[in-house]
Amino acid sequence: MTKPISLTIVSYVIFSIASILQASAQDTSAPANLVSLKDAFAGKFLIGCAGDVPGRYSEAELANIKLHYNIITPENSMKPQPTHPSEETYNFATPDTLVAWAAENNLKVWGHTLVWHAQTGNWFFQGTNGEPASRELALERLKKHIMTVAGRYKGKLLGWDVVNESIADGGSGETENLRKSSWYRTVGPDVLTLAFKWAHEADPEAKLYYNDYNIEQGAVANRGKHASSMLLLKRLIKEGAPIDGVGIQGHWHLTTNLEDVEKAIENYASLGLKVSITELDVTATGSNTGAFQTDAGTNSVTAEAFQKQAEVYRKLFQILLKHQKSVERVTFWGISDRRSWRSRQRPLLFDAQLQPKPALQAILDVAKRGQP
Ligand code: G3I
Repeated sequence: MTKPISLTIVSYVIFSIASILQASAQDTSAPANLVSLKDAFAGKFLIGCAGDVPGRYSEAELANIKLHYNIITPENSMKPQPTHPSEETYNFATPDTLVAWAAENNLKVWGHTLVWHAQTGNWFFQGTNGEPASRELALERLKKHIMTVAGRYKGKLLGWDVVNESIADGGSGETENLRKSSWYRTVGPDVLTLAFKWAHEADPEAKLYYNDYNIEQGAVANRGKHASSMLLLKRLIKEGAPIDGVGIQGHWHLTTNLEDVEKAIENYASLGLKVSITELDVTATGSNTGAFQTDAGTNSVTAEAFQKQAEVYRKLFQILLKHQKSVERVTFWGISDRRSWRSRQRPLLFDAQLQPKPALQAILDVAKRGQP
């Protein structure tokens, strides 16, 4: 009788020691940088990044994307110029590869973008003899572009930035202040409504967004670019544009007014629209206009600046978590300070060697603690 009992005790002790050893091995083998951003915000909102993957991305970069993000936006390859460089030429090699890679790796894809003043071939606006294209001709081409590009990825994308950056900078907010782009000059303000209708026709299940930078600015005071965006969105809704949401790009900096960000989210939600932060980066140095600019700041960024950057990200994510019912997605515009359109201003969560910066931990802390 005593033998089986002692055997049981010995087995139990061995089992317990083994369990403890296994648990501690698991703890030490999971470094802090393996905590996944997408898991931290699961059930709250999607976490995305931009990039034209997988070409020219290292294995480590692709692993970083698979670990941290559940949606990807092609940074350049779905824009009008790359997909449709001349009237009879389409180029889908890069976006097709991206969409297939994303499906294999369980990432959703966000389309960017169908109508824009930049990265769009001049041929859209030229008549057959070099004269300016008529409104009818430009619209016929735009419809064909949208039906072909959005139609090709029908059912494969979560949604589209249908129209990008249509509001000009520097307005008072008393009008829509639309940018006097080739689309505006050739077609007029209704180009936006028509683009939304055609995008819906091409891919009825896709969520359709208006996307722009600095449109949160002036929200608290109800003026400037934010007030213009509210006028534009109200008109689109009134004209029957099938619009689901607004993309606040989020090209921000250390002194960005986060009260405007919060008020803008509330104002867009009051129109019945969802909101996403679609191109997030927060520069740690240099000036910032929110638009493409050349002042790249300095290469030597202090540890203090990275701490300040972390605080901006922390406060921002507290706001986003508080408004999680309205916020659908937060997408970073790149994956590391090497893979950023303003890399010298060190705006992202991982440094140029893909090592986590203080900003990553600050955001993960917010997820752990919940909203304030
Ligand atoms: O593809 C060519 C390549 O063939 C050539 O060798 C190389 C030489 O410079 O240029 C390559 O094109 C560049 C392209 O990025 C792809 O890398 C363009 O010159 C460059 O202008 C382009 O910049 C992109 C920019 O949009 C264009 O306006 C940035 O990568 C991209 O991050 C940026 O993204 C925009 C969003 O779409 C809209 N919101 C603002 C945001 C930041 O500007």
